[in-house]
Amino acid sequence: MDFFHFILLSILFLSSAPTQATNLEYEYIVVGSGAGGGPLASRLARQGRRTLLIEAGSDQTGNLNTSIPGYQAVVTEDKALRWDIFVNHYQDQERAQRDPKYTWETAPYEYHVGPNPPEGATPRGILYPRAQALGGCTPHNALIWITPHESDWDNIANLTGDKSWDHENMNRYLQKVYEWLPTEPTDPTILVNDLALAQQYVGGAAASGIGPDPIDAVTGLVNLLANDPNSEINPARDSTEGFFQVPLTMESGNRTDVASWIKATVADGFPLDVRTNAFVTKIIFDQSGDTPKATGVEFQDGEYLYRASPRNLNSKPGTPNSARATKELIISAGAYNTPQLLKLSGIGPKEELEKFNISVVKDLQGVGTNLMDRYEVPVNVQHKEDFAILDGCTFDSKPHDECLRKWEDNPYILGQRGAYATNGLAATLAVHSDYASDSNIDLFIFGGPINFQGYFPGWAEQAVADHSHFSWYTLKAHTRNHAGTVQLQSADPFDQPLINFNYFDTGTTTGGADDLDAGAIVQAINISRHALSEYYNYDILGGSSFVEQNPGPDVDGDAELEEYVKDVAWGHHASCTVPIGADDDANAVLDSEFRVRGVQNLRVVDASVFPDIPGVFITAPIYIISEKAADVILNGSG
Ligand SMILES: Cc1cc2nc3c(=O)[nH]c(=O)nc-3n(C[C@H](O)[C@H](O)[C@H](O)COP(=O)(O)OP(=O)(O)OC[C@H]3O[C@@H](n4cnc5c(N)ncnc54)[C@H](O)[C@@H]3O)c2cc1C
Ligand SMILES: *[C@@H]1O[C@H](CO)[C@@H](O)[C@H](O)[C@H]1NC(C)=O
Ligand SMILES: *[C@@H]1O[C@H](CO)[C@@H](O)[C@H](O)[C@H]1NC(C)=O
Ligand SMILES: *[C@@H]1O[C@H](CO)[C@@H](O)[C@H](O)[C@H]1NC(C)=O
Ligand SMILES: *[C@@H]1O[C@H](CO)[C@@H](O)[C@H](O)[C@H]1NC(C)=O
Ligand SMILES: *[C@@H]1O[C@H](CO)[C@@H](O)[C@H](O)[C@H]1NC(C)=O
Repeated sequence: MDFFHFILLSILFLSSAPTQATNLEYEYIVVGSGAGGGPLASRLARQGRRTLLIEAGSDQTGNLNTSIPGYQAVVTEDKALRWDIFVNHYQDQERAQRDPKYTWETAPYEYHVGPNPPEGATPRGILYPRAQALGGCTPHNALIWITPHESDWDNIANLTGDKSWDHENMNRYLQKVYEWLPTEPTDPTILVNDLALAQQYVGGAAASGIGPDPIDAVTGLVNLLANDPNSEINPARDSTEGFFQVPLTMESGNRTDVASWIKATVADGFPLDVRTNAFVTKIIFDQSGDTPKATGVEFQDGEYLYRASPRNLNSKPGTPNSARATKELIISAGAYNTPQLLKLSGIGPKEELEKFNISVVKDLQGVGTNLMDRYEVPVNVQHKEDFAILDGCTFDSKPHDECLRKWEDNPYILGQRGAYATNGLAATLAVHSDYASDSNIDLFIFGGPINFQGYFPGWAEQAVADHSHFSWYTLKAHTRNHAGTVQLQSADPFDQPLINFNYFDTGTTTGGADDLDAGAIVQAINISRHALSEYYNYDILGGSSFVEQNPGPDVDGDAELEEYVKDVAWGHHASCTVPIGADDDANAVLDSEFRVRGVQNLRVVDASVFPDIPGVFITAPIYIISEKAADVILNGSG
């Protein structure tokens, strides 16, 4: 057997759930291969460190659902990788049920959405899509690539006194991410093939004060779409308002994510073992010394072991196994699973652990607190006529899917790949609201030919069921609510934790925080409606008329709109549950070098680490901190 086949066999062996316990020992073990764990594990191995990357899910890189940007909604419902996590926006269930997305389980993994559930249905709350896969949520997210604001980093530098978090230094790590991550915006020629769609976008540009002359609307739009919201040369980028293209994690119309970087690291012969279909149940500590020391993990080999997976229903039980880390263990299981795993292993609030008879390794009150997210809301309209760009798109990867054929037949010319070479949200208004706390942009208002109202079982089918909807949907950045929690529901590692976001007035209210957030979103709805009214000033493009469906024309005035916002808002950037903070902050779980306080050889590197939710989108900041963590682990803080 030559070396190549030996390596290939080793990879196959590692990913095919061996039936007997093995004696695994590595310098570093990373748990979770998502935005936080993937870049880090790759860098450690590329520096010659023997590294094990353990991932609950499987490699989905060949799956069309994870490749085609236009399938970004559909992929979140693919059973091969989806986790149905349910959360509470409000603990008061009566209030929570004012959200039409509130969901009941009628049989295992079968759901009823909205009021009047059938008798005996179990209330579950609001669906929060997550993925188990090589690459974590990055093969199933919406591909939007927005880099963080300078103050996101400077705040951490100020909070901890660790100057290496200064935005200038952090920019080095962004450049490291670009070594392996290609990004590109939607090709404008795809959009201008559909004049009705172009008409909606120029309406948006007009609402941001830079609408082109109607006679020249199409050329004007193409020019505006050259505006890059991640500009590295505009010194005032963080506060620049306007109308922008949306950069995507894609290359020639094919999704890019960290999964391919991990695979390239293995293929290039670096000492990285990737163990997919393996679920970590516990961190092992050596407690013989003064300070508990993380020495490895207990895990189970097996597919779909977490009960949030709809395929758990028919899955075989896992095979218990363990692995030792001679240097360090890094947990990157995401904002829900990292605090859950820490707590199950004895790291967390003592009272909560004792309730579940978990022996306390280190009482850390901050684990599973400080959960943050954006608030998002839609304004949806339905047109009289379909958008031509979606002609022939069935979004189901079946032979009749003409848009799939177009995408497959034109692999090299982005502009010819059609509707599937975009995530559907090609342009955004960037706004500094009247309610912002500093000079940073705090609203992104995205437009696209999609019926998007947030996440609920079946959301993707509804989103693309017809081709006549358009949404301006708002994402509120720099939200102020720190009051969310991730708590154990049981001591069983395969149960999802209890997740309470405590939205708006049930969360952080200091300084009117809840009203300021709600006010900004109401302003965003006003702006969205303004954009929709500007559409009619460009009738020359020939788009059909439309009717507003959500919130609906009769929901008007600040009070009513605020109620709408509080009822229906959602998020999808859960973060901050294992925060970095100052040495004298009792709730700071991590120091500025990602180390879990009070124990040795244990770090956390994923969406959980931020003290404050960063920027507008979260994948970019997570990739950046992952690169930073690799540098800190390999070279110290410098
Ligand atoms: C529908 C949707 C759309 C999104 N769109 C965007 C977007 O357009 N732009 C953007 O910037 N962000 C987007 N996001 C958010 C972003 O993708 C995630 O926040 C990000 O991937 C989180 O990174 P992470 O490393 O913290 O966790 P994840 O990427 O979730 O990775 C965690 C990994 O750990 C694994 N794991 C968990 N527990 C265990 C265990 N016990 N043992 C072994 N493995 C385990 C999981 O299987 C998973 O692979 C979106 C999210 C969703 C849900
Ligand atoms: C993609 O996901 C959908 C569920 O949304 C599923 O029906 C379909 O079979 C998946 N396609 C592929 C190619 O696996
Ligand atoms: C960080 O602290 C410096 C000095 O105190 C201050 O000038 C700056 O505004 C702070 N930055 C942030 C983002 O808080
Ligand atoms: C898309 O990219 C992935 C790797 O990221 C690759 O495996 C796949 O072959 C590409 N698909 C197409 C159709 O180009
Ligand atoms: C904890 O242990 C006690 C005593 O053994 C037992 O009575 C109790 O049911 C246990 N609680 C849980 C949540 O397992
Ligand atoms: C929304 O617009 C209405 C009038 O169009 C105005 O009265 C109201 O103050 C605006 N609300 C916000 C929060 O900007």
